[in-house]
Amino acid sequence: MAVQVKGEVLDIRRIGSYFNLSMVAPGIAEHARPGHFVALNVGGDSSSLLLRRAFSIYRTEQRGVYGGTVDIVFSIAGPGTAWLADRQRHDPIDIVGPLGRPFVLPAEPVPCVLIGGGYGAAPLFTLAEKLRERGCRVDFVLGASTEDRLFGALEGKRMSQSIAITTEDGSLGERGRVTDVLPRIIERSDSAVLYACGPMGMLQAVAKTAERYGIHSQCAVEESMACGVGVCMTCVMPVIGDDGQTRMVRSCVEGPVFRGDRVRWSEVGTVPDDTIGSIAWTQATNDSLFAASAPVAVEEDLPVDGEDAFVEASDADDEGSAS
Ligand SMILES: Cc1cc2nc3c(=O)[nH]c(=O)nc-3n(C[C@H](O)[C@H](O)[C@H](O)COP(=O)(O)OP(=O)(O)OC[C@H]3O[C@@H](n4cnc5c(N)ncnc54)[C@H](O)[C@@H]3O)c2cc1C
Ligand code: FES
Repeated sequence: MAVQVKGEVLDIRRIGSYFNLSMVAPGIAEHARPGHFVALNVGGDSSSLLLRRAFSIYRTEQRGVYGGTVDIVFSIAGPGTAWLADRQRHDPIDIVGPLGRPFVLPAEPVPCVLIGGGYGAAPLFTLAEKLRERGCRVDFVLGASTEDRLFGALEGKRMSQSIAITTEDGSLGERGRVTDVLPRIIERSDSAVLYACGPMGMLQAVAKTAERYGIHSQCAVEESMACGVGVCMTCVMPVIGDDGQTRMVRSCVEGPVFRGDRVRWSEVGTVPDDTIGSIAWTQATNDSLFAASAPVAVEEDLPVDGEDAFVEASDADDEGSAS
């Protein structure tokens, strides 16, 4: 269950292009699982930045002199994250969490590949710990545009069987994208599940790769959010349910982790016509309802009694006379 906590900044430090913010947040740390996120109030009490900002949980510590702590990793994207980057030790901070649905762990100890893009790697390390506790083989693929935007390479190396690094400019690891090396890692590790967090384009490519290999994928999405708790519908995405029907689903409560094969990636940001409740779907449903009141069986011209016999008799006569 999510709680709102008046926490405190324990520490903030720079790692490459990112900031690692540690916060005292008792009540959140204890219930957080890999894939959950927190929503932070930004800008202070008199700020016009009304909406909370969402961040994946990087680490939690449940005990300690301060109580539970929660870490996030972020880059400066705008005024909210700039404000966060200015925080000092002991500054108060208002946190809501843990939010969303976490990654689902496999029931069997199967090989898993964890794929992170930029700060999207952050939630994958606690996931790796959980998977290893279950006896799963863990391989990492981490990528970013440049070396300074790569997060957690050393940590990933420490807790995995292997790690592959890609940067788009070739400043570290192989030049290219995570999905360029992913097939090789899947084949080598005989992996059964892909777990991914990063930009939408990367998630779509990971989900496609999983489908190509006939394996399962779970993707933590980052659709823009306003309330973070399922009320405003800002974060909806077209997702296919167990019944094969597409629904607009709230990524803050039904996600942010989704099965990769269920998200209609190329239609994110739109409402596909066949989505339950869409204008086109409603129109089609209404049309079929009205169509149902039309006659079910269309009356045909039935032959008058004896007519059949007459035709047959006549035919028979003809045939008879012809023979
Ligand atoms: C579930 C979830 C987890 C996230 N985890 C992290 C994380 O671990 N680390 C991190 O740095 N950021 C994360 N984000 C993105 C983060 O919430 C935004 O960067 C932040 O809200 C920007 O706030 P701002 O006031 O600084 O910038 P704004 O002025 O709000 O936005 C600045 C720019 O960032 C873009 N932006 C805003 N929200 C998002 C978003 N959700 N995804 C992509 N671009 C966005 C805006 O379009 C704009 O161009 C996450 C978002 C979600 C929904
Ligand atoms: S952000 Fe409001 S419903 Fe998801």
